[in-house]
Amino acid sequence: MTGTPATHLGMPELPAPDYPAEIRARLEADAKEVIARYPDSRSALLPLLHLVQAEEGHVTRTGIRFCAGQLGLTTAEVTAVSTFYSMYRRRAGGDYQVGVCTNTLCAVMGGDAIFEELKEHLGVGNDETTEDGAITLEHIECNAACDFAPVVMVNWEFFDNQTPESAKRLVDDLRAGRTVAPTRGAPLCTYKETARVLAGFPDQRPGAVEATGSAGAASLAGLRLAKGEALPGRGADHVIAPRTAGPDNPAGPAAKEGE
Ligand code: FES
Repeated sequence: MTGTPATHLGMPELPAPDYPAEIRARLEADAKEVIARYPDSRSALLPLLHLVQAEEGHVTRTGIRFCAGQLGLTTAEVTAVSTFYSMYRRRAGGDYQVGVCTNTLCAVMGGDAIFEELKEHLGVGNDETTEDGAITLEHIECNAACDFAPVVMVNWEFFDNQTPESAKRLVDDLRAGRTVAPTRGAPLCTYKETARVLAGFPDQRPGAVEATGSAGAASLAGLRLAKGEALPGRGADHVIAPRTAGPDNPAGPAAKEGE
């Protein structure tokens, strides 16, 4: 069926072909499971967009129509949401979405150099995909992992403290089909597989759920310094006096002033 523009809630609908019956039936069953998790079905839109992305690798017009139909929304509403968030791809991409953070801190710590090297190494520009369909390269904004700058993300998993060399090894391994593990978490899976997990379906690979990890000492270093603790491997000159009094610091300057 070729999606004759219909109307829904009085709004013209986005013209698009429907999914083949077998795929539609499977997606409808999955969507029903997702929608049942929320008191208001509209709240299921974000996971449903991941669900259709898991099917086609990006959010197509067909996917938008599907989500709208499942949730009683207009295709305009679904389009507005899907084009707002950068985790939804608007066109076909590679199995691995490689994002290089070029926001301020990562940029000055080497992110810009990594991005330039990867562009040349892969022969693609920003938001372009390698000919083998393996890698889509993009520069991304800050992902709140500045303490590990420069950061590269693949399918939303972090690779901390990267260099141009390590980033090139990373994409080479991905293109060669080698198993690649991020700094934290389970080994990478493809973009479509990742999208299904983000839709809320369990990662069924053995050990995937248990493979977590922590941000490590770097994320807590500032807090420890603020508390007056010395950091391992750092001299005493890295210890700074706590600035305020409080439960953790009853003898801080403010307390002394009040004595
Ligand atoms: S600037 Fe790159 S993660 Fe914050």
